[in-house]
Amino acid sequence: MSLFWTKNAVKEVVRRHWSGRAETFDQGITHAPQSAEQLEAWQARMKAWAGDAPIDVLDMGCGTGFLALEFAALGHHATGADFSEQMIERARAKAAERSLAVRFDVADAENLPCPDASFDLLIERHVVWTLPDPTGGLIEWHRVLRPGGRLILIEGQWSSPDAPSSPMHADYQEIRETLPFYGGAAAADLSHAVKIAKFSSTVIEPLMDPMLWGGPVNRDRYALHATRG
Ligand SMILES: C[S@@+](CC[C@H](N)C(=O)[O-])C[C@H]1O[C@@H](n2cnc3c(N)ncnc32)[C@H](O)[C@@H]1O
Repeated sequence: MSLFWTKNAVKEVVRRHWSGRAETFDQGITHAPQSAEQLEAWQARMKAWAGDAPIDVLDMGCGTGFLALEFAALGHHATGADFSEQMIERARAKAAERSLAVRFDVADAENLPCPDASFDLLIERHVVWTLPDPTGGLIEWHRVLRPGGRLILIEGQWSSPDAPSSPMHADYQEIRETLPFYGGAAAADLSHAVKIAKFSSTVIEPLMDPMLWGGPVNRDRYALHATRG
């Protein structure tokens, strides 16, 4: 952490960034499926990950709620949590439009409003890279999982850490050095962080199918699977 930034100040920049993008977030092809084929590609993965019997799933850093809503549509008990009120408002509106019973909480990744051992599966997509203390988040996620519960981190590498911030992420320019996984996390580095947080049995599943992302991807995309012992 830079001498000039507290963890909370970094999080405030991050929260403002995503709140400002909530209204148009679902226009992004890597955020919300833009075709039936893309949606089916995600649904197939999610069915394989969760199985058929209903389970309690937390979509951490849910944004506008894509994963939580699709898990609910598949018959699971889904919860979404995100610290952006604007993102959660959009997610709640989408749940109401689809008559899906999903609980959406405004909550910080490191301080979840859930008792210990609340979930069978905690999943996140593209959240770890924007946490100033990813290990702190992972320790909290370990707490809310049941013994034997599963963690799935959908992550990847988008750019090298020293590449300039894209114009869309201009506000990240001043905090990027405080984010250990800015630009994306190498699977080996994230596996290490997961181990420090006391998860075990880490497996990396490549997610390179272009259908998931709306086109070919030239850098690693993967799901890291781990278990809470
Ligand atoms: C790239 S978006 C991904 C959204 C969603 N997971 C998806 O894949 O569509 C990152 C999300 O993480 C949320 N986020 C970032 N840091 C967070 C924190 N400390 N606590 C809770 N949510 C956080 C942001 O508000 C944003 O909605």
